[in-house]
Amino acid sequence: APITLIGAPTDIGAGARGASMGPEALRVAGLAAVLQAQGLTVHDRGNLTGPANPWRPPQGGYRHIEEVAAWNHGLHGAVLDELRAGHLPIVLGGDHCLGLGSISAVARHCRERHKKLRVLWLDAHADFNTAALTPSGNLHGMPVALLCGLGPPELTGIGGHTPAIRPQDIRQIGIRSVDAGEKRLVHEHGLEVFDMRTIDEMGMRHTMELALAGVDGDTHLHVSFDVDFLDPEIAPGVGTTVRGGPTYREAQLCMEMIADTGRLASLDVMELNPALDVRNRTAELAVDLVESLFGKSTLMRKQAPTRAT
Ligand code: ARG
Ligand code: MN
Ligand code: MN
Ligand code: MN
Repeated sequence: APITLIGAPTDIGAGARGASMGPEALRVAGLAAVLQAQGLTVHDRGNLTGPANPWRPPQGGYRHIEEVAAWNHGLHGAVLDELRAGHLPIVLGGDHCLGLGSISAVARHCRERHKKLRVLWLDAHADFNTAALTPSGNLHGMPVALLCGLGPPELTGIGGHTPAIRPQDIRQIGIRSVDAGEKRLVHEHGLEVFDMRTIDEMGMRHTMELALAGVDGDTHLHVSFDVDFLDPEIAPGVGTTVRGGPTYREAQLCMEMIADTGRLASLDVMELNPALDVRNRTAELAVDLVESLFGKSTLMRKQAPTRAT
């Protein structure tokens, strides 16, 4: 499908300023050109607009709830339009609170088309906080909980259906920072989490085989790529680094195995923070990985990739 780039330049849900510059950094790193070089059609529809960041303290457990709702409403509409037009949207974040608008649109599209939904959440964090549990009030720590219906109606209802997704629709990969209360909630809701210990013990290959199990021809596969998924040694340009993330090779394999399914139908690239980056190298790395996600391989593979577990 033709790809549409949608810029969402905001850091409204984050605890550090700068993710608002993410879309432009990804463009400067050559995102459209590398996809076009693979023979894909790419249309950049430019940036969405929304409220400025007022940098207020949390109120009732949430920071900037109204502004977060506004940005996510706008993004929801844009992603839904692209999906309905038969396009493959790539959201250029922006902080990860935008996963709410993006994935609620994807879920809505799946309901309309009677498609199964599988969300791969690549992140250092579970992003499963609620107002009562959050240590920060930052809404980028809450989109998964909001998508699962935990939170106020002005956020959980953005896609017109609450909850937007079920915990069993999502697989989290690379997780290594979960707050105490958040941890209880993750277990309570039965989220399937492939944390860093799992990746250490079974390797990225087996982890991805499990995370992709059940993905078939009727599945819409959405990847929500929080750039802080990557080890901060290779990806310093994010606001909430956590050491001990996937290496370059592990991240490449993760992307390649997703590409092999042929089911990727929408993507978020979130949390890139150029204000914290070093000569745009984190943006360039993200672009490099997206290239693999869209099927770039070193050689043509002689045999179908093995799926045995
Ligand atoms: N768990 C922390 C919080 O809720 C950090 C969340 C970081 N999320 C992110 N999308 N980078 O404040
Ligand atoms: Mn078209
Ligand atoms: Mn995140
Ligand atoms: Mn994160």
